[in-house]
Amino acid sequence: MLKLLFLVFISWVQLVGADVPDCKSGIINFDPPLDRTTVTWYPRNFTNNAPLYPNNYNCTYQINVPQGWFAEIQLTVSSTTVQVIDQMGRIETTSNSNSECFYFIANGGKLKLSTGVTSANFGFSVVWKQYDNPNSVHKYHVSKSEAVPFSYFLYGNNPIIVEAETRVSATIVPQPSYKTQYLRGIIYLDGPNLTSPCLGTGLQLLNGNMQFVSKGNSLTVLILGNSGSYPLLLFNDFYNMQGIKRFEGIQCDSSCQELKIDASNGRSVFQVDNSKSQYVLKNMTGFGKLDVYAGNLTPEKRNLIASYDLTADNHLSLPQLFKGSFTTFVMESGNCTISQTYSAGYSHSVRFSTFSKAL
Ligand SMILES: *[C@@H]1O[C@H](CO)[C@@H](O)[C@H](O)[C@H]1NC(C)=O
Ligand SMILES: *[C@@H]1O[C@H](CO)[C@@H](O)[C@H](O)[C@H]1NC(C)=O
Ligand SMILES: *[C@@H]1O[C@H](CO)[C@@H](O)[C@H](O)[C@H]1NC(C)=O
Ligand SMILES: *[C@@H]1O[C@H](CO)[C@@H](O)[C@H](O)[C@H]1NC(C)=O
Ligand SMILES: *[C@@H]1O[C@H](CO)[C@@H](O)[C@H](O)[C@H]1NC(C)=O
Repeated sequence: MLKLLFLVFISWVQLVGADVPDCKSGIINFDPPLDRTTVTWYPRNFTNNAPLYPNNYNCTYQINVPQGWFAEIQLTVSSTTVQVIDQMGRIETTSNSNSECFYFIANGGKLKLSTGVTSANFGFSVVWKQYDNPNSVHKYHVSKSEAVPFSYFLYGNNPIIVEAETRVSATIVPQPSYKTQYLRGIIYLDGPNLTSPCLGTGLQLLNGNMQFVSKGNSLTVLILGNSGSYPLLLFNDFYNMQGIKRFEGIQCDSSCQELKIDASNGRSVFQVDNSKSQYVLKNMTGFGKLDVYAGNLTPEKRNLIASYDLTADNHLSLPQLFKGSFTTFVMESGNCTISQTYSAGYSHSVRFSTFSKAL
């Protein structure tokens, strides 16, 4: 009986340990192979099931990336948490990912595995690639006087450079069904070329509810992943975007979810791309003052088209139709929930209030 148990134990140990190389020094380095078309698998080729690692197993996988190249990593992990640390030292943790893409530019990043109390499945592949089309960069300009942001619908993999009169502000608007992993492959660089320092990724911009602002008058964007997720990249002259604590954005075509604006920490902005439809603001509830701009925010309030005091009873003018391709909702304090819809989804018998000043 004991012997049988012992055999069962041995085969269990073999099963758990079979594919798992040791990590005695605590760190394993990965450099690009000479033939860069090769896919590097770790621990070795695996299909659906990443190998099982024992509990209390720690290892750091350092992926080195030369200048002008990037590493595309597909990570599979379950039953534990892996830290993905990018070239800037920013950490994203993931505990359940199935061939999910992560991107590192020079000088690389690392994956940190620490299984803790249970065993866990873990494995990844890496391909090193050169930037696509480094010499066919598309160039765009934004200025203080522009009434709408420059919006770039992501397609293709050409890098883009945006120049401003003062500094460039970048924000992002996801599509309802965007793919998180490809937002990691949108890399913002603080300067006029592909070796300028990194500001962060599209995913960091989205999750941080923030803007990236260039130090000088230009900003470069690398598009490394499959661009099939079509987020909208927005650029403004920073002159129009100062003092904003929180950003959110939405694109909608056939229907639109509720907007929640939270200005409890200061000026908060909701950027709405309505190029595909006309917007109807149905109702709003909250506390504070809500300003609506046709286009982008301007310090001179040139294109302010409506201002609602949410605590006063001014809801009689609803539903309200907003014309134009872009709308910005701004609150200085308080918060607000707005329900809105696409005009085609609204009965034609409803009479909308409109503004003569709409752009
Ligand atoms: C991994 O799989 C690829 C394609 O199936 C094969 O060419 C390669 O030799 C395999 N590598 C290892 C280490 O098994
Ligand atoms: C693994 O890392 C954890 C957290 O840093 C630590 O508590 C643990 O002792 C480490 N285990 C080993 C085997 O080094
Ligand atoms: C690239 O831009 C940086 C500033 O971000 C500058 O220092 C550097 O000289 C530029 N390199 C080239 C090749 O133009
Ligand atoms: C607007 O929302 C408030 C609070 O939820 C509700 O009482 C009111 O009936 C709504 N008005 C319309 C026109 O839907
Ligand atoms: C909105 O603001 C009010 C008043 O400051 C506060 O009581 C409420 O909790 C806020 N709601 C949200 C969702 O932040």
